[in-house]
Amino acid sequence: MTDSTVFEKTYSARSVRVFDRSKPVGREALTYFVECARVCPTAANLQPLKYVLVDDCKTASSLFALTKWAGYLKDVRLPPEGCEPTDFIVMCHDTDVCKITDYSTMDVGICAQTINLAAREKGFALCMIGSFDKEETAKLLSLPENLVPVLVLAIGTPAEAPIICSVGENGSIKYFRDDRDLHFVPKRSIKEVIVK
Ligand SMILES: Cc1cc2nc3c(=O)[nH]c(=O)nc-3n(C[C@H](O)[C@H](O)[C@H](O)COP(=O)(O)O)c2cc1C
Repeated sequence: MTDSTVFEKTYSARSVRVFDRSKPVGREALTYFVECARVCPTAANLQPLKYVLVDDCKTASSLFALTKWAGYLKDVRLPPEGCEPTDFIVMCHDTDVCKITDYSTMDVGICAQTINLAAREKGFALCMIGSFDKEETAKLLSLPENLVPVLVLAIGTPAEAPIICSVGENGSIKYFRDDRDLHFVPKRSIKEVIVK
């Protein structure tokens, strides 16, 4: 990737929901992503997050079936058939380290976005999936009770390049796709988000 500044990296690291299955990610790259995440700040430096790497087709396909995609787009099947993510990282909170508190979701967000940027750096892309069947995921991955799955990262080689646009006059932040199937993500303006 040629993005060099944080600005360029964060602008290009969009959620992707269409993947090229001929170029899977593999364990080595997944491990690199977690190498980046494991040194992230966490509340009280507790480091309660543990990661399950999924790079085998069978588990990936079973896990995919437990995830929900693009809730705003009712009439579109995403990912399209044959364009599903090849790899996953399941982020788990280890309750043996500490209980889940208000800080836990902050830890998850910081680590998830770090993995997003690391994936982007290596030419991959992801979609964070909060809408997934947690119970079935824990069963599928044979997770011990102390590992609570909190966020699924669906990863692969991107086969689409979503575009940032401004929030329109109607104020809608809902992402949409045009007739060429380009995915647009409305973002609030700098004026709106800096309040003082
Ligand atoms: C915590 C979190 C949970 C999310 N869960 C889902 C999900 O379950 N399904 C999905 O398709 N996208 C999910 N997304 C992706 C968001 O829809 C996406 O970030 C948003 O539309 C903005 O697009 P962008 O990431 O390209 O900026 C999630 C994102 C975050 C940060």
